[in-house]
Amino acid sequence: MTIARDNLMSLQSHILAEEAKHPSATGDFSWIISAISLAGKVIAHKVRRARLEGVLGDQGTINVQGESQVRMDVIANDIIMRCLGSRASVAVLASEEQEEPTILRRGREGGKYCVLFDPLDGSSTLDTCGTVGTIFSILRNDAEVPDAERTVCQPGRQQIAAGYILYGPSTVFVITTGYGVDLFELDPHIGSFLLVTSGVRMPQRQKTYSVNEANSASFPAEYQRYLKWAHGEGYSSRYIGSLVSDFHRTLMKGGVFMYPPTQANPSGKLRLLYEANPIGFIAEQAGGVSMSGGVRTLDIEPAKLHQRVPLVVGSVEEVGHVLRHA
Ligand code: AHG
Ligand code: MN
Ligand code: MN
Repeated sequence: MTIARDNLMSLQSHILAEEAKHPSATGDFSWIISAISLAGKVIAHKVRRARLEGVLGDQGTINVQGESQVRMDVIANDIIMRCLGSRASVAVLASEEQEEPTILRRGREGGKYCVLFDPLDGSSTLDTCGTVGTIFSILRNDAEVPDAERTVCQPGRQQIAAGYILYGPSTVFVITTGYGVDLFELDPHIGSFLLVTSGVRMPQRQKTYSVNEANSASFPAEYQRYLKWAHGEGYSSRYIGSLVSDFHRTLMKGGVFMYPPTQANPSGKLRLLYEANPIGFIAEQAGGVSMSGGVRTLDIEPAKLHQRVPLVVGSVEEVGHVLRHA
């Protein structure tokens, strides 16, 4: 459902209205979304001024993923840590850019939620003015589990909220709390994310696939069979190299995005806890499907914080075409 332009509903008021539907709600969760919204506004500003402030390019360090960090990865990570670190209900923060989770407070000290995030997804496209984004996933803190990494290693079906902020021609905030997907746009003149679409639905079919075909020689045979089939069916190919951008197009227009196992990344490149799970939750809540290695992404029991998985996510019919070539 698209909201009439004159309906001024901010992210904050929308979350509070949603919260009012849950009598046991205490407002802590809204505070976390508010912190993520603040971080998104600050990162959006930084991303747009990165060239002028001379903070593009490599940091000269390698992160826990074995990938070279760009300076904006570190800047975005620091912004999120500062915005979320001050919120009393956050127990654990876990970032793509940090090897270990950060424990802020135990359950008995009020730590109710764990927030996992990819501070800047697609950051390698930043220096050519590509669209990048922040991906987040919110889990309940399991106060009985003393080990922070084990606390955050929960299957994606246990997420209580997930979403992303897209820094493109406009700044878009997409979120689900398990009751459908809502889309907000930042109005920079008033500094608020305004509700644009409530109940986003992913089209059931669209003849577009999104994959890095340069790796296709090392894809498992079923993916190669699917691509051969799609080439004969008049599909178009779209690939930006930024998960959050490639997925947002898939959410809005339909199609299928996939990152299969490759020679360089035999388990797939994308990280389960802060890329595949939040994206998969959004996809399912919008009527799409998310699969990893033939099973539902959200049912995978994580073993490690930075665990990688293959990902096939998108329209029901389009993911079906990929799966039936298995
Ligand atoms: P990140 O920038 O957070 O490291 O993520 C990059 C990921 C994802 O955004 C994208 O889909 C994928 O890397 C692209 O990988 P290839 O360049 O190997 O296609
Ligand atoms: Mn990423
Ligand atoms: Mn990243």
